[in-house]
Amino acid sequence: MPTLTFIEHNGTEHRVNGSIGQSVMQAATFASVPGIPADCGGACSCATCHAYVDEAWLAKVAQPERMETDMLEYAFERQDNSRLSCQLIISEDMDGMVLRLPSSQF
Ligand code: FES
Repeated sequence: MPTLTFIEHNGTEHRVNGSIGQSVMQAATFASVPGIPADCGGACSCATCHAYVDEAWLAKVAQPERMETDMLEYAFERQDNSRLSCQLIISEDMDGMVLRLPSSQF
């Protein structure tokens, strides 16, 4: 069972167990990690599941589809490592992944 670490903008860390095939957003929300409201429930239409994938882990996640890239245009504080966590599907390779949350989400 892969473990993910979410780091809030204030530095608070949350270690969460995820399941293979589950989205990163689902793992976070099921564990009540603050800062991921996921208003659209994972339909890629709200950008409130925005997270920064730690640079060391970027190669472990699939490239974003066009729909995600388009929706990221609406994300606050977008960076090169910005992703919508509802579009990141957990795989065994992601065990230990670190994601940071933008200051606009708390
Ligand atoms: Fe709405 Fe990810 S939960 S875009």
